[in-house]
Order: sequence, then C-alpha cells, then structure tokens
Amino acid sequence: MKGVILHGGVGTRLRPLTHTGPKQLIPVANKPISQYVLEDLVEAGVNEIAIVLGDIYPEKVKEYYGDGSKFGSKITYIIQDKPKGIAHAVGLCEKHVGNEPFVVYLGDNLIKGGIKSFVEDFKVSNHDTMILLCKVENPQRFGVAKFDENGKLISLVEKPKQPPSNYALTGIYFFKPVIFEMIEKLKPSWRGELEITEAIQLLLENGYNVGCQKVEGWWKDTGTPEDILEANRLILDELKPKIKGKIEDPNSIQGRVTIGENTTIKREALIRGPAIIGENTTIEENVYIGPYTSIGNNVTIKKGEIENSIIMDYCVIDVNDRIVDSIIAAHSKIISNPNNKPHGKRFILGERTYIEL
Ligand code: DAU
Repeated sequence: MKGVILHGGVGTRLRPLTHTGPKQLIPVANKPISQYVLEDLVEAGVNEIAIVLGDIYPEKVKEYYGDGSKFGSKITYIIQDKPKGIAHAVGLCEKHVGNEPFVVYLGDNLIKGGIKSFVEDFKVSNHDTMILLCKVENPQRFGVAKFDENGKLISLVEKPKQPPSNYALTGIYFFKPVIFEMIEKLKPSWRGELEITEAIQLLLENGYNVGCQKVEGWWKDTGTPEDILEANRLILDELKPKIKGKIEDPNSIQGRVTIGENTTIKREALIRGPAIIGENTTIEENVYIGPYTSIGNNVTIKKGEIENSIIMDYCVIDVNDRIVDSIIAAHSKIISNPNNKPHGKRFILGERTYIEL
C-alpha cells in the first residue's frame, strides 16, 4: 500500500505564520504537524510516500524531509502548481500509486493513535474506498456524511449550510485506483476546487463499495490558530516526560515535562507540565512556564510567564508580563524596555500580525 501526504494549499487563516512556510510545518509539541502524519503512515507499514507540494516555500518541506530515509520512508515529491483542490492534488499521484491501493492523509490533520488499524482493515476489506468519520460540533466546516435510517452511508456533501449529520469527513482517505476515474469527471466546485468529497460521492452514485469507520478518539484539522493550540494541548496531554537538560533545582519541574539536550532551567524558574522545551534553550530565574506550552530550540526566556502557547525556535522573551494562548514564530523577540523614549509600546510586525494587549 502506498501513501500520499498533501502539503500544499493556501493557509490563509494561519497568516502571518504561513508567510514564511507551509502550514503543515508549523510545530505542535515541537514537531511539524506533517511529521506526525508521516510517522503515522510509517508506523502503519506505509513507507513509499508521495508528498504533494504547493507554492508556499516547498523547498522548506524538501529540506526537512529529504529523501525520507531519516524517517524510515522513501519520499517522492510531486509539485502542484496552484491549490486547485484536494482531488486535483490526488490526481497528480496516479503514476506514483500505480495499481496499488493507497492512503491519502492531509498534511494538516492529526489523529489520536495513528492509522495502523485502519490500514489493516482496508487491506483485508473489499471496499473500493474507505473514509474515516468523526463527530464534530461544527460540521459546516467540513465534508459531511448522510446516513439512511439504518445508519448506512448514502451520500457526502462538502461544507453544507445545513449539515445532514454531525459526522465530518476526516482528512484520511483509503482509495483504490478507481478514484482516478472519478477525479477525471470532476468540475471545479463553488470554491473553485476539485473536491475529493465529490469524487467519493461519484463512487457512491456509481455503485462502488464505499466503507466508513467512525473515529473514537480525537481528530483535529489544524486550519486556524485556535486549532493549532488545541492540537498542541492534545499532543501534550500524551507527553512522556523526559529530562535531558540541566535543571539547577529539581523543584522547578512540576508534572509531565520534557526538556531537550543542552537546555538550562535556572534556579527559581517554574515549569508546570504538560510542557515541552527543546534543545539549547535557556529558561532564566523566576520565569514561569505554565501548562500546555511548547518552547522550541535555541530559545531564551529571560523574564515573563507563558501559558498555553507555542514559542518556536530562536525566540527571545524578556517581558514583565504574562503571555497566554499565543503562537510566536521562529526568530521573534518580545522584550520590555522601560527606558524607551518616548515611552510606549513598540512594534515591528509582519503582515497580518495579530496582537491583543
Ligand atoms: O480536514 C478535513 C477536511 O479537509 C474535510 O472534512 C473536507 O471534506 C476536505 O475538503 C478538507 O477541507 P478543508 O477546507 O479543511 O481543506 P484545506 O483547503 O484546508 O486543505 C486540506 C489539506 O490539503 C491541507 O493540508 C492543504 C492540502 N491541499 C489543499 C488544497 C485545496 C493541497 O495540498 N492542495 C490543494 O489544492
């Protein structure tokens, strides 16, 4: 069985984070979202993987994953010139897939417990396609399934105003190559994309065997900053504590905390888990790192309190303040300078920055 990871798309709702890279590379608990995807595939025995790249810094994806060998996989890159839809991106993978069944995993989706059991179920089933559904509170945001009175899947609709159920299509799809015939028949939708939901609907209409399974644990589509922070909490909730750095006072660590190599936690600092801190990072005295915080590599936190936030690599934070529910991209600096003249807040911000004071 082969694998396809979609790594293109626009990422509008995640600007300014997506001004400098694709959304799937945003780290959650110090690891890019798409790395969880890749690891789920490899764990399920799917090693031959095509990554479909979009036009937002595709070279960063290639640089990070390389030929895939570091991750126990063999990666082929396929370029999608413009984000013309999930079905368009899947259509580009026909040669990579050949005659084999394959799994498509959207690079911005996360699922508890991986996909191994689903891959095994699909392999032994006679389904032409299998979809995973998850109960959600806001089905309008997703592809949605409709069932008959016996609970049998009868149709699928993309982002309906009036959802026929609360079951959303997750971004994990199991296909046989017949899906390519359906993709060829598609016309762009109201949002100008070739919709994979419509391709599967065509399978249903043409009498193909479309199976579905309901996801029992959590599943997360990380389309917005709030989604990213929630994904961070979900992953940190399962964090296995591991301390490699230097902790000057063991009382500084409370709860489940992971700390990377060459990181120093100075005396009088307090790290309350679940939290992860990367490598070569310094947490100075009196700093407080609260639950559900991920701090990357080469970060310096000189002063301040941080909670429920993601601070990426090479940031410097030195404020007499509390930072909450925030995502701070790499190489950012937040400092307080009481001697600043004229006195006031000073900002040098990228486009579409969001600030709440
Ligand atoms: O996350 C699940 C949902 O994903 C499903 O419920 C929907 O049925 C499905 O259409 C999709 O909806 P989104 O609107 O969330 O899709 P989005 O545009 O965010 O793209 C999903 C992923 O696919 C994302 O990682 C970017 C990538 N992508 C997207 C497009 C449109 C591509 O690689 N190329 C594309 O052309």
